[in-house]
Amino acid sequence: MIGSATQNGMRVSITGLGCHVPERVVTNDELSELVDTSDEWIVERTGIRERRIAGPDEALSDVAMPAAEQALETAGVRAEEIDLLIVATVTPDMAFPSTGALLADRLGARDAAAYDLSAGCTGFMYAIVQAHGMVAAGLSKKALVVGGDVLSKIMNWHDRSTCVLFGDGAGAVVLERVSEGGFLGFELGADGAGGVDLHLPAGGSRMPTTAETLGNGAHYVHMNGREVFKFATRVLVSSAEAVLAECNATVDDVDVYVPHQANVRIIDHATKKLGIAPERVVVNVDRYGNTSSGSIPLALADALTDGRLRAGELVLMTGMGAGLTWGSSLLEWTATNGAT
Ligand SMILES: CC(C)(COP(=O)(O)OP(=O)(O)OC[C@H]1O[C@@H](n2cnc3c(N)ncnc32)[C@H](O)[C@@H]1OP(=O)(O)O)[C@@H](O)C(=O)NCCC(=O)NCCS
Repeated sequence: MIGSATQNGMRVSITGLGCHVPERVVTNDELSELVDTSDEWIVERTGIRERRIAGPDEALSDVAMPAAEQALETAGVRAEEIDLLIVATVTPDMAFPSTGALLADRLGARDAAAYDLSAGCTGFMYAIVQAHGMVAAGLSKKALVVGGDVLSKIMNWHDRSTCVLFGDGAGAVVLERVSEGGFLGFELGADGAGGVDLHLPAGGSRMPTTAETLGNGAHYVHMNGREVFKFATRVLVSSAEAVLAECNATVDDVDVYVPHQANVRIIDHATKKLGIAPERVVVNVDRYGNTSSGSIPLALADALTDGRLRAGELVLMTGMGAGLTWGSSLLEWTATNGAT
C-alpha cells in the first residue's frame, strides 16, 4: 500500500509525543551470566550495550501509561478528548480484552474507540497510518497511538541468538489535524511467506498452549537471524525509496532519519545504501536494544529531546519486523502542540 497523505487536502500531524522505559537496566555483562555470550560479541554484531527490562508485575499497559500521559500533556489534550486509541504491540497484557481498551479506561478516555494492532516491530507505523486515515476522514478528531512491547516476557532467556537483541519500552503520539506540515505519505507492506523467520508458534489457535508446548519452548520467540537480517537490510531501503518517490522527495530532503532500532549494522547498511548523512540518523539501539513497536516513537522522543526535530524539517521513519512487515512515512515536523 502506498499513497500521498495530503490527497484530500487534510493535514494531520503528531501534536504530542511521550515515551517510557522500565527502570531496570540489563547490561551485556549481565546477560553473559545467563547465556554463552559476551559484551564484545553483542556490541560488535548488534551495537547494543544495554536494554530495559520490565519487572515481574509490569505489563505492557504499565509501561505504556506514562508514555500516553506524556503524549497527552505535550499535545495539551485531555484524555476524555481522545476518540481513538490504537495500541500497536505483540505483547498485550493478555489476549483479550485489548490493551487499548484497558489503557483507555486507565487514562479516562471514555469516548474512545480502542483496540490493539499486531504488525510486529512495524506496528507503530501501521497504527500511525490507520489513525491518520481516520483523523483525515473526520472520523476521529484526536487520536492516541501507542507503540510498545515487553518482549522480555516472551523471550527464551536460554537462547543467546534472540535474548540479547530485545528490550522493553513504549512510545505514544497524539495525532490531530493541522493547518500546515504533517504527514506527506506512507508505504506499508507484508510478506506472510517470510513469517516463519520470526514467529511465536504456540499460544494461538494453530497450536494452543499445552504442557508439551511449554516443555519445548514453543511459547517463546523463534527467529532465523540471518534471513531476518537480509530482509531488514532490503526493505529498509526499498520502503524508504518508495515513500520518498511517492512524495516527490529525495534523500537530500530528509533532515532526520528514524529507522527501526534492531541492530546498528542494519541501520548503517540502510543509511549508506540510501545515501543519508550519518548525522541525520537517530540511533538509540545501544541503550534500549530492539523494543519492537516502541522503537520508532522512542527514537523520535530522543530526537526531540536532543533538539533535532524542528518545525518544517522532513522526518523519514521506516519500520520492519514480524509478519514479515514493513512500513515508512514521510512527515513534515510540526510543533508538538501545533494543532488547529
Ligand atoms: C542475530 C544476529 C545479530 C546474528 O549476527 P550474525 O553476524 O548474523 O551471526 P550469525 O547468525 O552468523 O552467528 C555467528 C555465530 O555467533 C553465534 N552466536 C549467536 N548469538 C550469539 C551470542 N549472543 N553471543 C555469542 N555468539 C552468538 C552463532 O551461534 C554463530 O556461531 P557458529 O558460527 O558457531 O554457528 C543478526 O543475524 C541479526 O541482527 N539478525 C536480524 C535480527 C533482527 O533484527 N530481528 C528483529 C527484526 S525486527
